[in-house]
This record gives sequence, structure tokens and C-alpha cells, in this order.
Amino acid sequence: MQILPNPYKVEKLSGTFSLTKDSVIYYNSDFSAQAKLFARLVEQSCGDCLSFTDEIEQAQIIFAKNDNTHSEGYTLMISQGVATVNAGTPQGCFYAVNTLRQVFNLDSKQEVITCANCYIEDKPKFAHRGLMVDIARHFYGVDTLKQIVELMSQVKLNRLHLHLTDDQGFRIQIDKYPRLTEVSSVRQGTEVVKGGKRYVDDQIHGGYLTKDEIRQLIDYAAERNVEIIPELDVPGHLVAALAAYPEYSCTHQVSEVRKLWGISKDILCAGNDSSYVFIQDILDEIVELFPCEYVHLGGDEAPKDRWCNCKLCRERMAELKLDDYDELQTHMLEVFRAHLETKGKKVICWNDGITSSAHTDIVSQLWKPLNYKKAAKSATKQGRKVILSPHFHLYFDYPYALTPLHKTLNFNPCNGLSSAQRDNILGVEAPLWTEYVTSSDKLYFQLLPRLDALAEVCWGWSKHGYVKRVARRMELYENLGLCYNKQALKRALVGRATTVRKFFRKDSDVEFSQNQ
Ligand code: ACM
Ligand code: ZN
Repeated sequence: MQILPNPYKVEKLSGTFSLTKDSVIYYNSDFSAQAKLFARLVEQSCGDCLSFTDEIEQAQIIFAKNDNTHSEGYTLMISQGVATVNAGTPQGCFYAVNTLRQVFNLDSKQEVITCANCYIEDKPKFAHRGLMVDIARHFYGVDTLKQIVELMSQVKLNRLHLHLTDDQGFRIQIDKYPRLTEVSSVRQGTEVVKGGKRYVDDQIHGGYLTKDEIRQLIDYAAERNVEIIPELDVPGHLVAALAAYPEYSCTHQVSEVRKLWGISKDILCAGNDSSYVFIQDILDEIVELFPCEYVHLGGDEAPKDRWCNCKLCRERMAELKLDDYDELQTHMLEVFRAHLETKGKKVICWNDGITSSAHTDIVSQLWKPLNYKKAAKSATKQGRKVILSPHFHLYFDYPYALTPLHKTLNFNPCNGLSSAQRDNILGVEAPLWTEYVTSSDKLYFQLLPRLDALAEVCWGWSKHGYVKRVARRMELYENLGLCYNKQALKRALVGRATTVRKFFRKDSDVEFSQNQ
């Protein structure tokens, strides 16, 4: 059976099961949406409209409730002419439908729908099975994000983290501060690596999500058990916002949305009360929109040069009796965390924005440390929950020559951790930064089929047969007309270093164009 991610347990049984136009569906009333989704998928595949019954004995497809299963788990028994799903929640039932979708090959047009009899027992490895998409560096709108959510949900991923703000663009409508969309969402040029050199072009790039679009996306994702997590990156990576409201920077002199990549010294002033109010006002509108448990507050790559030279920041340090600017960042983070707590929200932060004195409720997203295991151990020892995003394995913006598919696939999150430490691993997330991703085709190229490797890491219980299973997902991408890396399953033995050098110095599309 070619199921991706690989279920916890699959037993092949003798005999086969066939779905016919006379097959009838029974569902527990909690699983109506999932049963109807299944019927819709069957109709798309073979044209037959299956009917429903209230009499379980008459049904050949059964979606039943069983409170004993894991909250996102399910069992599936296909035997003696009946396919029975047991799940405890609509989420579990949804994942069972997605397994049936693969077992019955429902994404292909078929005359006859059939499969080998089997018993499947399944549950995820982690609660947080995430992908991050950076829509700040290059903007991607709601249609692309919906497509990504749909693909994520098919392989049982459940969190889409939107990196909404950065130095190069602010991508969410905030009513109280209209200049965040008028000014901060547009930049007048972009650093590119093209034609053998790195330079700044003069192309205008802009875009943002309206509140209506965000609500639409959240609803669409909720139907697919995907939660959208917003990120407002503070105090660094905020130049786009500060270009519109320079009074909240230390110098009051930030004048344009940044065109260069990398790290800016201009960050939010930590000594000015009104800069805290500015961020809290933005957070209030974000919280109002997003129903999820967490808000991501960024915190990464915030150089303290401006704080060291700012009278207000130095006064704030003295007032708080701090002697370390990283602790001033922790103070700022605590102000926002406490504010969000009053709204019922918890906080995630990139690990380099968290000191050991930061509130232990703040989840650390580990990206930076080369030794992520050591960092995970130390964070979990503090009782802090962590999300693992080690850059060498999981940064999907990296060229495949640097991070081949098998490197992502072979990432083993809990290797070497004690069981207590494992309990604090909330999950795994792959970021897709978009500095060099200038089209949705390239976005899909960087993402597919890495998304499937990510699902194997977050949920899959064995890597067995992954080549065939990934190849099957690639057929789907082909049928959907989506770009993907057709070479991803081949192990390139030579030329990888040259490709990586070329990617960063001469042509950031080097792999993408070779694959077209
Ligand atoms: C990051 O890659 N700056 C989190
Ligand atoms: Zn300052």
C-alpha cells in the first residue's frame, strides 16, 4: 500500500474490496463533513454518486465514532465487503478519509475503485506538524496559500505559519495604521542574483492580505484541519513597518522599505512607550482575526547597535536594572506575551530571541543552533516547549544541492532525547523563506516534494518504501500542473557544491531553470 505519511500500523489481509455505484455510506453525526468529502472524492474519481443510509448494517462504507482512539488518530478495517473507519474526533476521521483517498487512488480518474483488504491503525507522532511560508519577502496571495493548505492537509500536516512581516514588506491589513499597507507593503526594488551577479533591481514589488482574505483562508484551512498561525516579527525584521512609522525606531530615520536581504540594524525602540503601544495595537487586530492558540512574535536576528546608542533605550535599561541588551529584548517580549495572555493567546518565538529568563510558557522555535539536539535538551530542561526547525534539514528555501530530499527525510527529531524531553517537543516545522522565490512556480518547486518528506518526519512511522510513495505524490503534482522538483529522488553525487555556489553568487534560479 502506498500511503504517505506511512501509518503507524498496516496489515494486509487476504481478498479485495470494490466500491460500486451501489455502495452506501453510513456516518456518525459528528462526521458528516468527512463522509461527504469522501463521497465527493469518489464522484470526482469515477463519476458515481454514492448514497447515504442511517442503517449501519446496510452500509459498505462506515464512519463510526470510537472514543478510545488518539485525538487525531483513526483505525480503518477493509474486509468482507465493508470499509470501516473508527475515529474519536472529526480530525481523526478527516485523516482516515485522506488515507482512503490514497488507498483507493481517488485523485486519479478510474472506472473501478478497488483495493486490497487491510487493517490500518494510525496516529501522528507530533501535535505540531507545520510549514512556514514567508509572504513578506515575496508576496503570495490567498489562492496560492489555499492550494498549499490543501496539499498539506492531504499528508496530514496541520499548521501553516505565515511570516507576515519583515524588513522588505508588511503583508496584513491593520485598520488603525493604514500606512502599513499604503507604504510598508510596497518596495521599490529588490536584491537579485541573476546573470552572474548580485545587484538591486528597480522593480516595484507589493501586496498584502486583506482581513476578508485572511478570514477566507482561515475558514478554508479549518475545513482541512489546518490552523493558520500569524507571525509579527519584533523587534528586528521590522524595517517595512518602521519606514511608515519611523517614530517607533530609535533613530526616527528609517526611510524606506528595505530592498536588500540580510539583517538590518534598525529595529523597534525598546525605550519608547509608544512603540510598545504600536505593536500591541497591531497584535490586537491580529488576535481578533486569528482563532489559533499561538501568535508568533519572531524575535530572530535583532542586532542591538541602535539600542546601545539610544538615550531612551539606555534609560529603560537603567530603570529595569539590566546590564545586557538581550535581557531588554526579553523584557519587551514579556510585555507582549503578558498582553497576549490577557487575550487568551500563547507565544512562539525563534530561539535566538529567547534568553533563559524568558517566560517558560513561550515556545521556542529552534532554527539556529548547529547542535539543535543540545539546544532542544537545554530548552526542554527549562520546561519550555520547542518546535524543531533545524535549518540544514528543514529550510525549504535552500537549494536541493545543499539540502537534498533524503536529508529532510532522514531528520529524526527525537533522536538522543529522553522521554521527558520528548514530551516537550511540540513538533516540527519547515520554513520556506522567499528572498529568492519570485514566482509561485518556484515556490512549489522548493516545496514539492519536500512537503511529503516533512509529513514523513512529522507523522510517518517508517520510511519503508518512501521512494515509491513520494513518486506517487509526484504523479499527483504532475496531474495538478504544479511545479515540483522532478530530480528530487535522484541522489546527485557530483556538482552539488558548484550548484550551491552558483545559487548564492550567480543565479538563484539555477536548479529551478534546469528542472523546467
Ligand atoms: C530565521 O531564519 N531568521 C528564523
Ligand atoms: Zn531606542
